[in-house]
Amino acid sequence: MTTTSLVAPISLSTDLLTGAEWSPAHTRDLLHLSADIKARPIRYASTLHGKFIALIFEKPSLRTRVTFDVGIQSMGGSVVFLDHTQASASLGARESIADVARNLERWVHGIVARVYHQRVLEEMAANANIPVINALSDKFHPCQALADFFTLEERFGALRSFKLAYVGDGNNVCHSLIYLAARLGVHLRVATPPDYAPLPEVVADGKRVARETRAKIELMTDPREAVSGALAVYTDSWTSMGFEEEGEIRNAVFQPYQVNAELMSLAAPDAVFMHCLPAHRGLEVTPEVLDGAQSVVLDQSENRMYVQKAILHTLF
Ligand code: CP
Ligand code: NVA
Repeated sequence: MTTTSLVAPISLSTDLLTGAEWSPAHTRDLLHLSADIKARPIRYASTLHGKFIALIFEKPSLRTRVTFDVGIQSMGGSVVFLDHTQASASLGARESIADVARNLERWVHGIVARVYHQRVLEEMAANANIPVINALSDKFHPCQALADFFTLEERFGALRSFKLAYVGDGNNVCHSLIYLAARLGVHLRVATPPDYAPLPEVVADGKRVARETRAKIELMTDPREAVSGALAVYTDSWTSMGFEEEGEIRNAVFQPYQVNAELMSLAAPDAVFMHCLPAHRGLEVTPEVLDGAQSVVLDQSENRMYVQKAILHTLF
């Protein structure tokens, strides 16, 4: 992708809770800004000077935690980490979410939160007059999907009509891919078992926006049909955080959706393999695919940082 000069600040919703907040034009601008930040990080070294950002995590994280921490510090800001991963310190147990949010807004300039329930983010955003950014919830993972499309644009150029196949669970990552694919004009095929399809309201929004952008959002149950001719094949864990009790049954139901060399052979010859990580070798993906030449999973991880810096630059 060509990089632009310092991209003008975009006027957007003050929160990023789902990935559906932004118009198609704003979404494209955000990817341009990410490219500029990646190419010229020094220009953005003081964007967050004097700003403090709370990182609240109810679930474990490697990529999201490190990329936000390093990204914020590299823009001159400071991080306050609030660890709520232990059941004994669960968010909202000691005082209400609303009270936590009302206190935080007196001390910090923004909140990045990974939570079990999307409504916790909404409650925070409703009670704190500072930006709230979704670092993954049960329903959405917008920072991930933005980094994924940035990775594809970097590699393949313009995304209009780009053929992306998502295979597996109709989960948080899948929902955010639908929102963003619709906004970026992508042709997304989603193949899930019938009982694990993405939420109808997310699909309905995607299809509504797709009519404007000439994107295409298609749902199906056959992974082979989804992958056929695709330029990128994406999968995620069969059992997301918070659903561990269903692990055994999910491993059985999702077996036909494993991304292996045979499934990849149905994609375009220069297709890439994508996964948000962490991956489970031998379950949703075989080692030969995850660690093979077509895999761009570490580019996705790296790009989380640039996209998140662009989000912060935009919201602050
Ligand atoms: N992809 C992702 O969000 O990774 P972490 O769970 O390690 O943050
Ligand atoms: N769908 C996965 C993504 C992890 C980054 C989960 O929610 O656990």
